[in-house]
Amino acid sequence: MSATTPPPVPATPSADSGSYDSTLIENRVFPPRPAKELGFSAWHIGSLDEYRRLHARSVSDPDGFWREEAKNLDWFTPFTTVCTWNPPDARWFDGGTLNACYNCVDRHVAAGHGNATALIWEGEPVGPKGHEVMRLTYGELQNRAARAASALKAMGVKKGDVVTIYMPMIPELAVAMLACARIGAAHSVIFGGFASTAISERVSDADSRIIITADGGYRRGEVVPLLKNVDEAVASLHEQGHAVRDVLVVRRIGAGDAGFATGQARAGGTRYHWWHDTAAVASPDCPCAPVQSEDMLFLLYTSGSTGKPKGIVHTTAGYLAFTQMSARLTFNLIPDAGQVFWCTADIGWVTGHSYVLYGILANRVPTLMYEGAPNYPAIDGRPGQGERFWDIIARHKVTQFYTAPTAIRTFMKWGDDLPARFDLSSLRVLGSVGEPINPEAWMWYHTHIGGGGPTGGGRPIVDTYWQTETGGHVVTPLPGATPTKPGSCTLPMLGIDAAVVNEQGEVMPPNKGGLFAIRKPWPGMLRGVFGNRERFISNYWGRLKDPATGTPWYFSADGARTDADGYIWMMGRVDDVIKVSGHLLGTMEVESALVSHPAVAEAAVVGVPHAVKGNAICAFVTLKPAWLKTNGRAADEALKKELAAHVAKEVGALARPDTVRFAEGLPKTRSGKIMRRLLRDVAAGVEKITQDTTTLEDFSVVAKLRGDDE
Ligand code: PRX
Repeated sequence: MSATTPPPVPATPSADSGSYDSTLIENRVFPPRPAKELGFSAWHIGSLDEYRRLHARSVSDPDGFWREEAKNLDWFTPFTTVCTWNPPDARWFDGGTLNACYNCVDRHVAAGHGNATALIWEGEPVGPKGHEVMRLTYGELQNRAARAASALKAMGVKKGDVVTIYMPMIPELAVAMLACARIGAAHSVIFGGFASTAISERVSDADSRIIITADGGYRRGEVVPLLKNVDEAVASLHEQGHAVRDVLVVRRIGAGDAGFATGQARAGGTRYHWWHDTAAVASPDCPCAPVQSEDMLFLLYTSGSTGKPKGIVHTTAGYLAFTQMSARLTFNLIPDAGQVFWCTADIGWVTGHSYVLYGILANRVPTLMYEGAPNYPAIDGRPGQGERFWDIIARHKVTQFYTAPTAIRTFMKWGDDLPARFDLSSLRVLGSVGEPINPEAWMWYHTHIGGGGPTGGGRPIVDTYWQTETGGHVVTPLPGATPTKPGSCTLPMLGIDAAVVNEQGEVMPPNKGGLFAIRKPWPGMLRGVFGNRERFISNYWGRLKDPATGTPWYFSADGARTDADGYIWMMGRVDDVIKVSGHLLGTMEVESALVSHPAVAEAAVVGVPHAVKGNAICAFVTLKPAWLKTNGRAADEALKKELAAHVAKEVGALARPDTVRFAEGLPKTRSGKIMRRLLRDVAAGVEKITQDTTTLEDFSVVAKLRGDDE
């Protein structure tokens, strides 16, 4: 099976997908209000017909469409060209200058909204005085971003530099990102769950010389040792000859002085600074620097099918235009209407970049950030039972709630009575993101959170399909316009010319599996893989092309089908990356971590369907007999645990294998490729039957039977 073969579509629709092909769930809650009434040059879409008309226009006349849409941004210099497309390179809004921080913060202050709420933050711990909540107005956010920007400048950060950010979900994280944007530096945010090796790898790839972090973060009552991980990364980077110049540290945990005073040089000469001594108190006199439309706004690393993560490059104007529009349309954002938008994703992922920060603030709607876990602590001091999210929605009167199917399936497991205890009547739109949502989870969300019935009513659900690379939603229902079907992400976003095609670029007929492709450039698309042109082309633009003209199309690496109504149903990745609890993980990353353990000769990692996580990680490992002998070890349960823990230490807890299985050899084709499909079958099928932890797998017979068919 080649890497791009689409998954087969079952001939008879299974209960998990096709049976919902004809279930249309009506999706109207509050009528959209016309732009004029909002005092904002925005609009919402009120019907499926209007959507179809606008979508057709947006793909037939993209220049006209985006020229109009870009008016929702504030420009220092107007752009002269909408789009230049020299496949695979697109340039958007050339000639223009603007600033992302200005568009998210300063322009709202300038327009007289300085006292409006921009950010609502809630910490995880609940103390004797109750919840730790911070509200920042646009004026306060501007002040903080400007001070932090001054401090970064004083540390020598310049336009075009890459600043690495490795932080918990605290307000300073948003401030740090905005501060970078303010001075035209790009940020590279690394999810706080990654381990030190992952940090050093990304810092070195981005040639970043400054890291912003915290002395720790709270997660399910535990302290995450962020600073310790950064220290380790900095030390190992020095060994590799990569000097990190400065580390800026927010005091979140407050456990003493963490062994340094501001300005102090530590290992290898890296200077450490406390945020409260520098970024919090520097001069607020630091205006937003005009940057070119195509200047890099951020780098965000994502997993690929090799062991090395890819630094996805997003630039300023196109990304902002796309996230602002998609946020507004998908979530029906309306400024000054009492809305509170809550996306539960960590800012370390693209969902947090686009829909905790940029897309939401650009629309002048308050964004809520929550630091911790959904089941910690209980609201009344009892052990956590999973009510924290519902409690947050009720207390902060959240209007749009955006979360992942894994979370929804976890809530289902925790019981219907938990959300039922809370007043969720403020909710208007419910979002899902990150992985396919199975119809059962969709229906639970619709019924228990959305207050809907079997044929509709309740709040609309928007199942948003997109990727780190797409910048924002590329397939999603629009509330008030698109009737939904449980399990389908429905129809393309405006400006997205989507199709399900085969390897030859032929559009697949309804209900035939194919590859999800985008046939025209869009403003939010990635502009490159940092420092790796070859990977940019081969991963995204070298696989599919227009059969008539030969023009490359964007290859998503997702399998999909359309149904008879043209609705899109995503069917999962067709490459060697898996989604575990909504997090993208390269199987090679886990394999590399495994083989870095001295006991391991070879490893192969596959995803196994999992009822809550979507996929679980199953690792097949062959051991080095000599190592076992020398160290007096056996292929036993203890070694399996040690290997799983080793992966968590090397990559991060999110990569910890759920199952480790020992094999004498891995099944390979005659040309030496590991037969992953066979391993997937074995992992999925035998999983439940054998718990015999010491049995070695013998794949030799099957491997011989199968030829080079992988
Ligand atoms: O496989 C698709 C899945 O998540 C992948 C992108 O992951 P990442 O770059 O980490 O971005 C996640 C947040 C957008 C896709 O290739 N995916 C994302 N959303 C959906 C989805 N699969 C099905 N339905 C979705 N709504």
